[in-house]
Amino acid sequence: MANTASIEIDGKKHEFPLVEGTENEVAIDITKLRSATNGVITIDPGFKNTGSCESGITFLDGEKGILRYRGYTIEELAEKADFLEVAYLLIFGELPTKEQNDKFHEDIKAQAVVDEDVKKILDAFPKSAHPMGVISSLTSALTAFNPSSVNVDSEEDMYRSVVKILGKFPVLVAWTFRKKEGLPLDYGDNSLGYVENILKMMFKKPNSEYKQNEILVNALDKLLILHADHEQNCSTSTVRIVGSSHAGLFASLSAGISALWGPLHGGANQAVLEMLEAIKLDGGDTKKYMAKAKDKEDPFRLMGFGHRVYKNFDPRARIIKKAADEVLGDLGVVDPILDIAKGLEKEALEDAYFVDRKLYPNVDFYSGIIYRAMGIPTDMFTVMFALGRLPGWISQWREMRLRKEPIGRPRQVYIGATERKFVPIEER
Ligand code: CMC
Repeated sequence: MANTASIEIDGKKHEFPLVEGTENEVAIDITKLRSATNGVITIDPGFKNTGSCESGITFLDGEKGILRYRGYTIEELAEKADFLEVAYLLIFGELPTKEQNDKFHEDIKAQAVVDEDVKKILDAFPKSAHPMGVISSLTSALTAFNPSSVNVDSEEDMYRSVVKILGKFPVLVAWTFRKKEGLPLDYGDNSLGYVENILKMMFKKPNSEYKQNEILVNALDKLLILHADHEQNCSTSTVRIVGSSHAGLFASLSAGISALWGPLHGGANQAVLEMLEAIKLDGGDTKKYMAKAKDKEDPFRLMGFGHRVYKNFDPRARIIKKAADEVLGDLGVVDPILDIAKGLEKEALEDAYFVDRKLYPNVDFYSGIIYRAMGIPTDMFTVMFALGRLPGWISQWREMRLRKEPIGRPRQVYIGATERKFVPIEER
C-alpha cells in the first residue's frame, strides 16, 4: 500500500503521509493540511471519519464486533479478571501482579474517605435532583478539596491522583444514591473487595446487616468491566479535550460525566427502561412501538438499539445478555417489563428496517434490566455507567497528558453573516 495520500485543490496536488496503527487501521495525517494549502481544513460533523489521537488503550472493530483493552479481549477479561485488575490494566498498561494489585487496592482504600464538608454540598441538593447532576457536581467539588492540577512528570503524583479518585468516587456514588433514598450516609467497609464494598455502601440499611449476594457482585463486576473503556466516545473525548487545557483530573472527569448523561450516550440505559415502562403503560403493544421507531415522521427511536461504531453486534451486549439471564433466573425475577424487552429484541432482530441498518441491541439494552433487578432506581443507571467508565477516562486522560498532546481546538467553516454595519437600536 502507498504511504501517502494526495489531495488536489485548484489543480495543485498535496501529498500527506498515511499513518498505520498496530491493527492496520490507516489514517491520513493532515496535521500540515492547513499550512500547506493556505487555509483549507477538513469538516466532519460528529467526527465520523476523524481520529482525534493515537491511543494504545482500547481497540475496537465495529464491523467484526471486537473490543480489546490493552490487547486482551473483553470476553476474556469479563470472564477471568475483576474490575480493579481491569482498571489497573487500562490505566497502567499491564495486568497487575498479585503484589501490585494488593497495593493498588490498599492505596485506593486509604483514599476512600471524603471530606465531611462534601456532605454539606450534598445536603443542598433537593431529593428530586437527578443523580447525574449531583455526581458531576460532587466530582467537580472534589477539586476544591484536592489540588486541581497533577504534576504529570511525576509518576508518584499521577499514581496518587488515580488512587484518590478511585477511592472517593464510589463513596460519592453511594451517597448520591442514599441521599435520594433518604438513607444515612455510609463509608462502607474496607475489609471488603472493591465491588462488594460498593454494593454494601449503597444498600446497607441502618438497622440490619448487609448480606452479600455473589450473583449480584459478579454481575456488577462484569457490568463495570464492560463499561470500563470504549476508546474515543463522546464522554472520553470530552475528558481528553478538557484535560488538554491542563485542567485538573477531577475537573476533566466531571465534564466527562456530564457528557455521559445524554440519552444518546450513557443516558441510554435510563432511556431504555423509561421506554419499556412507557410501552407497558400503553398496553404493552411492542408492534406499535416498532412502527413508531421506523416512521421517519416520528422522532421516537428504539432506545438500546444501534451503535455509532458497532454495526454487526455489540460484543458487550452478548456478554451482558448472559449475565442478565443468570441474575434474573437466580433472583427469580418475574417482571412484565422483561417480557416487553424480550418481545422488542425478537421483533427488531427479525425486522428488515433494523437488519438493513445493522441496528442491534447494545450493552445498554441489557444493563438497565440487570440494574433494575438489583434494586437500583432508573435514574441511577447512568451513574453506575460512570462508575464503570472511570478507569477508562482516567487512562485516556493520563495517556493524553503523558503524550503531551496539544490543546484540543477544532476549526470551523464559518457560515454566518459577512461583515455588516452596526445599526443603532432606534433604527432597527
Ligand atoms: N431506532 C430507530 N432507528 C434508528 C435507531 C434506533 N435506535 N438508531 C439508528 N436508527 C436509524 C436512523 O434513523 C438512520 O436511519 P436512515 O438511514 O433511514 O436515516 C440509521 O438508523 C442510521 O442512524 P444514525 O443516527 O445515522 O446512526 P449513528 O451512528 O449516528 O447513531 C446511535 C448511533 C447510538 C446514536 C443511534 O443508533 C441511537 O440513537 N440509538 C438509540 C440510543 C442508544 O441506544 N444509545 C446507546 C449507545 S451504546 C452506549 C454508549 O456507548 O454510549
